[in-house]
Amino acid sequence: MGSQPDWYADGLEHIWLPYAQMKTEPSPLPVVATRGERIVLADGRELVDGVASWWSACHGYNHPAIRTALERQLQAMPHVMFGGLAHAPALTLASRLCALLGEGFERVFFSDSGSVAVEVAMKMAIQSWRNRGDFRRTRFAAFRGGYHGDTFATMSVCDPDEGMHALFKGALPAQLILDLPRDEPTAAAMEAELARHAGELAGIIVEPLVQGAGGMLFHEPCVLRRLRAAADRHGLALIFDEIFTGFGRTGTMFAMQQAGVTPDIVTLGKGLTGGTLPLAATVASGAVFEAFWSDDPGKALMHGPTYMANALACAAANASLDLFDREPRLEQARAIGEAMMAGLEPCRGLPGVTDVRVLGAIGVVQLDPVPDLGALRQRFIDRGVWIRPLGNVVYLTPPLTIGEADLALLTGAVVEVVGQGRLAAHPIPA
Ligand SMILES: Cc1ncc(COP(=O)(O)O)c(C=O)c1O
Repeated sequence: MGSQPDWYADGLEHIWLPYAQMKTEPSPLPVVATRGERIVLADGRELVDGVASWWSACHGYNHPAIRTALERQLQAMPHVMFGGLAHAPALTLASRLCALLGEGFERVFFSDSGSVAVEVAMKMAIQSWRNRGDFRRTRFAAFRGGYHGDTFATMSVCDPDEGMHALFKGALPAQLILDLPRDEPTAAAMEAELARHAGELAGIIVEPLVQGAGGMLFHEPCVLRRLRAAADRHGLALIFDEIFTGFGRTGTMFAMQQAGVTPDIVTLGKGLTGGTLPLAATVASGAVFEAFWSDDPGKALMHGPTYMANALACAAANASLDLFDREPRLEQARAIGEAMMAGLEPCRGLPGVTDVRVLGAIGVVQLDPVPDLGALRQRFIDRGVWIRPLGNVVYLTPPLTIGEADLALLTGAVVEVVGQGRLAAHPIPA
């Protein structure tokens, strides 16, 4: 890459990048614009986006309807504190989210990232017990393969070994980490553990249907029904973390709808603003909220991020929900799934490929361990696509608006790169 902008070389010396060993990580690509389903680089190249900016850009980039809503909101009020003040974008969004999630969901607490939304859910679960006089319940049951964020409480409910937070073992609260109850034996093992620890547990947290950052691992809806039954048996708050799965990614607006199960608390983020601005939400059932409803100020939920319910972000989220109302996103998600099923199928049986799977608009080709992830990523860039494997998991989560031709470029690039083989046995030449 010859023509790098000035800001790039100057700033690179001062930036700390996410999930990156700064000494060895390949330099990030300078981006100057996004357009539809494409990322425009400083040297003029365009990459077809297979990641949707960490699964958030569900309507593609720069959607005119969201841009117009943002411009309008910018004129009136980009932000005002949410303590003691309220505004239409937030209150409208809260009632729309409760209506969308369905009966039982009553209260929305806004925050500015998915991790904080999960922290708030955990805090709600623990405090709902404390407000009823039970101070022993401080722990959570969570699952191997799970991922819920990078802050301290959320790290504690991630997979402790496979996840990216293994280094912090011993520095985190010890949670009850279980296998998902996929079948009778695992369900029985879970039940035994829950029964043994029931008095210490405040809740159960799970990503419904897809464990995303933990490796795009799918599970059946019956797992969620087992969890609901177990939570009811032990009186635990059931938290569904829909931060990845929400807003159409699994083919329904929310993954939980495929199981017909209602949790007590849901966390939302990522696609909430259509990938434009940081906003997350923790949505509680009436029963959870009830535990906080009191004349005692000590029973209030003491949480309030500075940028909570940011008016611009809420306006973007309302515009994004309008798009879900007006445009056939869920049909598009299902069509993407079908196209990926066909497009990725040639990977099955290739040397080094251990699995090919698709759920909703998530396509996965799982490989043997990849010795040089940077080189694998570069192979995709060289083919004009933005695909960022999670370790040995090559996945596609494109914007739900992607057209057939661009989707074919993505699946074709996966087939070609994986087909080059020798991903597992030898380092890939740079
Ligand atoms: C299921 C799930 N929960 C929580 C988070 C954390 O969200 P954020 O990165 O916005 O803090 C993520 C992010 O990938 C996620 O996939």
